[in-house]
Amino acid sequence: MENREIDLEFSIKSGAPEKQRTACVVVGVFESRKLSAPAVDIDRASDGYLSEILRGGDMDGKAGSTLLLHRVPNILADRVLLVGLGKERDFHEKAYRDAIACAIRTLRDTGSMEATITLSELPLKKRDVAWNVEKAVIAAHEALYRFDRMKSKASEPRRPLKRVIFAVSRRGELKFGDVGLARGLAIAHGIAHAKDLGNMPSNVCTPEYLAAEARKLAKTYRFGCEVLDQAACEKLGMGSFLSVGKGSDKPPRFIVLKHEGGSKGQKPVVLVGKAITFDSGGISLKPPGEMDEMNYDMSGGGAVLGAFRAIGELGLELNVVGLIPSCENMPDASANKPGDIVTSMSGQTIEILNTDAEGRLILCDALTYAERFEPDAVVDLATLTGACVIALGAHPSALYANHDPLAREIEHAADEAWDRVWRMPLWDDYQDQLKSSLADMANIGGRPGGSITAACFLSRFAKKYHWAHLDIAGTAYKGGRDKGSTGRPVSLLVHFLLNRTEK
Ligand code: BES
Ligand code: MN
Ligand code: ZN
Repeated sequence: MENREIDLEFSIKSGAPEKQRTACVVVGVFESRKLSAPAVDIDRASDGYLSEILRGGDMDGKAGSTLLLHRVPNILADRVLLVGLGKERDFHEKAYRDAIACAIRTLRDTGSMEATITLSELPLKKRDVAWNVEKAVIAAHEALYRFDRMKSKASEPRRPLKRVIFAVSRRGELKFGDVGLARGLAIAHGIAHAKDLGNMPSNVCTPEYLAAEARKLAKTYRFGCEVLDQAACEKLGMGSFLSVGKGSDKPPRFIVLKHEGGSKGQKPVVLVGKAITFDSGGISLKPPGEMDEMNYDMSGGGAVLGAFRAIGELGLELNVVGLIPSCENMPDASANKPGDIVTSMSGQTIEILNTDAEGRLILCDALTYAERFEPDAVVDLATLTGACVIALGAHPSALYANHDPLAREIEHAADEAWDRVWRMPLWDDYQDQLKSSLADMANIGGRPGGSITAACFLSRFAKKYHWAHLDIAGTAYKGGRDKGSTGRPVSLLVHFLLNRTEK
């Protein structure tokens, strides 16, 4: 896959907004009509031109509103774009990100080639310059992302935005801006990569396609890469993983990526991503309603690949292993049937009461495989349960962990990345729901606490190390008419790993 990068150049600058020789300078206005600091500078230089316009009622600073001004007196920029920021006391992370996105979209639609955006100077509680710039770069990519590879003609804007300069308020802050810029770019590219993979339909994005993607990344960034085929997985005894792919004509792939950026003896972090390239449910077939979204069931694996892309770009000084079990869940004569019993790589046997609970069946063997790396921590990512979407909706990913410090580490990274999680219980009390009369366990635990019992199932295969599980069923993609991958939780993963390099 050619990863079509958005063709946009970013840089950081300090200096008075009224003296920016640029096609467009973007300044924020709070509700109601309160100028942000850079807007005050422009207002002063132009003898109150902005205040006068605002008094006239052309713009009140409501979030999402914009006003493009031409020939503002005494200003070196050709145009000034006012962006509404909403109420100043509600101006937090979300409002900040929305304002950047709004600015970028307006610049694109008004045909600006170049702009200096001062919104990055706006102070946010607990956040620093690097944070502001990183998030601005990510939000800009987010706003411009399109997936039109499957359209016969790509739509190109007339005069695309080419250069964006984010302002910082003092010269001394430039170096922090540069840190944010580098991180933001790597994360944004990782997110775009994960999105592209997620958005690809399942007739294109097959297990072998993902394997080829991993090989390509490995070549570019010198990762180790190994792709285990059916026979190799059989040898390892991955009876649970292999059972899921049996009903498909696409051969399964178990992808292993290795980045050795840390010291030789350093125990690696292992990232495990569920990559069901299409989840029909198997013999326990899903209802047709939203089945078209089930190409996104490889989003966990896509996020691992996206994170590796960022790891490579940042040259992260840490040992990281990526494991991506990938196959398709289809109904067929040789598919798993309700009541079948399989033996996992760990030796534990599993009664498959519902073939649609397939994610845990492929992850459990990957978790056992992870043991050979003697990991410092294992984090798995999976669009695992519809129950998770019911419990938490689309905003946080569900976090489970068998080790409190690891859970806190992930919560911290999630807050930093603004790619949030919500911790869920992994209490023994729930384990009873997985009882099977015939095998060591069943693959479903009934409707109550469906996301929790899925995590409990996985925990039985993650006893030998510190482990966390993210159920990303609600966060990895948006459904419905505007369906599309979000690229989550690439940002969270990169922050989690970055924080580990600072130890
Ligand atoms: N991939 C689905 C989970 C899913 C559902 C993700 C909706 C995104 C949106 C998973 O394989 C699945 O089918 N889970 C079942 C489990 C059940 C049979 C215990 C579910 O959630 O219905
Ligand atoms: Mn399923
Ligand atoms: Zn699934």
